[in-house]
Amino acid sequence: MNPKTPPLGWNTWNTFGEKISEQLILESVDQFVKLGLKDAGYEYVVIDDCWSMRERDPKTNEIVPDPVKFPRGMKFVADYVHRKGLKFGMYSCAGTRTCGDYPGSYDHEFLDARTFARWGVDFLKYDYCDMPFSGQAEFYYRRMGQALRTCGRDILFSACNWGSEDVWRWIRTTGAGMYRSTGDIFDAFESTKSIAVSQMPKFDTSAPYCFNDMDMLTVGMYKKGNVASDKVPTQTFDEYKVQFAAWCVWGSPLMLGCDIRTMDKDTLALVTNKELLRIDQDPLALQPYMPETCWPNKEEPRVAARLLDGKDLALMFVNFGDGAARGRFHLERVGLPYQSGMKLRMRDVFSKKISYSGRDTVPYDIPPHTCQVYRCTPVEA
Ligand code: GLA
Repeated sequence: MNPKTPPLGWNTWNTFGEKISEQLILESVDQFVKLGLKDAGYEYVVIDDCWSMRERDPKTNEIVPDPVKFPRGMKFVADYVHRKGLKFGMYSCAGTRTCGDYPGSYDHEFLDARTFARWGVDFLKYDYCDMPFSGQAEFYYRRMGQALRTCGRDILFSACNWGSEDVWRWIRTTGAGMYRSTGDIFDAFESTKSIAVSQMPKFDTSAPYCFNDMDMLTVGMYKKGNVASDKVPTQTFDEYKVQFAAWCVWGSPLMLGCDIRTMDKDTLALVTNKELLRIDQDPLALQPYMPETCWPNKEEPRVAARLLDGKDLALMFVNFGDGAARGRFHLERVGLPYQSGMKLRMRDVFSKKISYSGRDTVPYDIPPHTCQVYRCTPVEA
């Protein structure tokens, strides 16, 4: 069954790249539960690229787990994950080789889907490297989509062709439950900003049963890992807050990418923030929008809004830029003009404090690289 709200979990790639192992997964799964990530709603534990031998088994043609990294095989890992009440995700690629140069599923889609089903896999991230013919993503993703639908197990199909080939036009026809609508993230505020901004023309392409995936989070990584760049400064906690809040308000799947065994307290509090998760997981899963039609610089929008279940709406004030972001937000931009007689009861999702807007405007003053997020209820002024 495809998801009605964006999937939540953790993925090995951002921090560990090819340095993955059974021990890492087991330790992370234990910590996942201990830290309360499971209770907060995180569900999938996903092993990304580099888990297999370099070649398929010559007799069976199956992909073989690397016996050094995963000495007891994948069914053992899946069973462990399931015993903890979580779901198990794996990775393959639509091309002949994965992006890390391991066997891909091209022309082995049905065999591989059955193998994954036998191991107890619940989620398949499906990458797009080493294609025999370029420009035919739709064709390749449809093959694996059918293979998963007929493999005998409910496996969430997580497509990852980086938003290329107008993927939003056809991805739903493959049965995917989420799909990457962006290129790869890296652990820098520039990347957070460019991914967030890149989604604005794509807001209407994400909806229940198939969500735009803005890539695994770098929240809490502090440049420890595989997607860091030496050329940029380490992100601050405020910058990570912007990332996590934008992913939630935008309604993206949330796949943590940091080392959860060493996650610091602030990061944990951020990624388990109930109000933000409630926005991300809102049952209506409506698209956000940018209500200001004339912000000073279109590249640096300041206000995002999204209707939530019931009367509420989310408002996010964000400063992606390096200068001041000060102004008054006119409530008529969210359909509440002065004549409506309404103002907003605004609950700050971080401080939990409640404030009220004026009858027609909300003043804001957002320091560079920070944000404010409110869950708002219209009330009579
Ligand atoms: C691609 C994907 C990444 C990751 C790597 C693994 O770049 O977009 O998310 O899966 O491949 O090699």
